[in-house]
Amino acid sequence: MDKLADIGVIGLAVMGENLILNMESKGFRVACHNRTVDKVDAFLAGRGQGKNLIGCRTLEELVASLERPRRIMFMVRAGAAVDQLIDALEPMLEPGDILVDGGNSSYLDTTRRCTDLAAKGLLYVGAGVSGGEEGALLGPSIMPGGNAQAWPALKPIFQAIAAKVADGTPCCDWVGPDGSGHFVKMVHNGIEYGDMQLICEAYHLLSQGLGMSADQIQPIFAAWNTRELDSYLIEITADILGHVDPESGTPTVDLILDTAGQKGTGKWTSQVGLDLGVAIPQIAEAVFARFLSAIKDERVAAGPYLSGPGKAASQGSDGDMSAVVDQLEKAVYAAKICSYAQGFQLLRAASMEYGWNLNFGEIALLWREGCIIRARFLGTIKEAYDADPDLANLVLAPYFREVLAGAQAAWRTVLKTAVDLGVPAPVMAASLCYYDGYRCERLPANLLQAQRDYFGAHTYERVDKPRGEFFHTNWTGTGGETASSTYNV
Ligand code: 6PG
Repeated sequence: MDKLADIGVIGLAVMGENLILNMESKGFRVACHNRTVDKVDAFLAGRGQGKNLIGCRTLEELVASLERPRRIMFMVRAGAAVDQLIDALEPMLEPGDILVDGGNSSYLDTTRRCTDLAAKGLLYVGAGVSGGEEGALLGPSIMPGGNAQAWPALKPIFQAIAAKVADGTPCCDWVGPDGSGHFVKMVHNGIEYGDMQLICEAYHLLSQGLGMSADQIQPIFAAWNTRELDSYLIEITADILGHVDPESGTPTVDLILDTAGQKGTGKWTSQVGLDLGVAIPQIAEAVFARFLSAIKDERVAAGPYLSGPGKAASQGSDGDMSAVVDQLEKAVYAAKICSYAQGFQLLRAASMEYGWNLNFGEIALLWREGCIIRARFLGTIKEAYDADPDLANLVLAPYFREVLAGAQAAWRTVLKTAVDLGVPAPVMAASLCYYDGYRCERLPANLLQAQRDYFGAHTYERVDKPRGEFFHTNWTGTGGETASSTYNV
């Protein structure tokens, strides 16, 4: 028989195919399978032709064609399809064999699968893979977590195919146990939602607020991409704004319907923020902004009934554009810092909750290249966490503290402009509220506690008594002295 394969990949959609070609280009022999078998034939006759691949028409063939311990990665839709695949493979495998889920699975599913399969001697790994089609082919960011015994066997392949930072370090390393790899990927996606919406808000302010055209805005993003905001998402935004529809000669972006889709990872991130009690308002607002965009018909119908500030508030083209653009760049950077700070706070909470011992500097490095949120400033985030792994919040790192202080006036002015022009900027606004809330020594929660105690005898703590002692006031004189039980969710 021919030489056995180093790894098997199941799922020949674009990400699966590109990962296979990436692995093959690094010298690995890859066995490939897809449930719809025609796709295997088509791949081997097409992009996979003449390559060091083994096409497998059944799961049995795939399992038989692999070196031991077997390494099988699947790139299939998250959810039931993953469980079905595991159930089908399991009877054919032996203790020590490795299964890797490279899709966007829920981290809770991955934790469950790790535990169930460990009891059967199988090593399960949930590996977040980011970078889209091109990343999968040329070097994605890979975030593997799960059964650590699998890592030595996966490391040579995954680190070979991953994106590299300038000094050659791969954007792939072991994240931690259970579903931690998928958790990190989920937070990556939540941050991705925040970044994208923030960019869209800047574009909205420039286009609808200040009346600039796509080709006037394009060089602004291109220039931002040469400075602190240097990142993949800013870069592609400049590209998109410069794209012209060949048929109509109109900027393509102007022809696209303004209703956003979503596959759910931003929603999951927001839900986990709620579950773990971590304030991640920018990510949540980015999800809500997509929801609001999706009700296009309702918005169109509502528009004529709901008045805005009107033309008088608009600066139009005679305002001082360059000053606004400079302020906007600072505001976007400040908001981006707060957004990442929130993402890392969520990682920190999960690390504590699940005992994962996550290394935040390393996670920043995993995201430095290859993935959708890759950005120059992730190098600075890594430095901040390397300098102080126990950093309470990214906004407190000396460099970021300074940037935020320096950007503050511009940040506030930009938001005032957006408010005056009636241009919604929910993520930008949430960033400043987060910053102002986080630095506020005394929030109005004293009044909130009083309200809770007034109507429900929920009790409160006092500034003049030790923490942990709870008090109830008979606010009206008609309520009783009996307090409700005290607990927090
Ligand atoms: C990546 C992306 C990817 C995600 C898409 C679509 O890291 O390569 O995050 O995993 O699935 O960006 O996400 P939405 O459809 O939810 O926008």
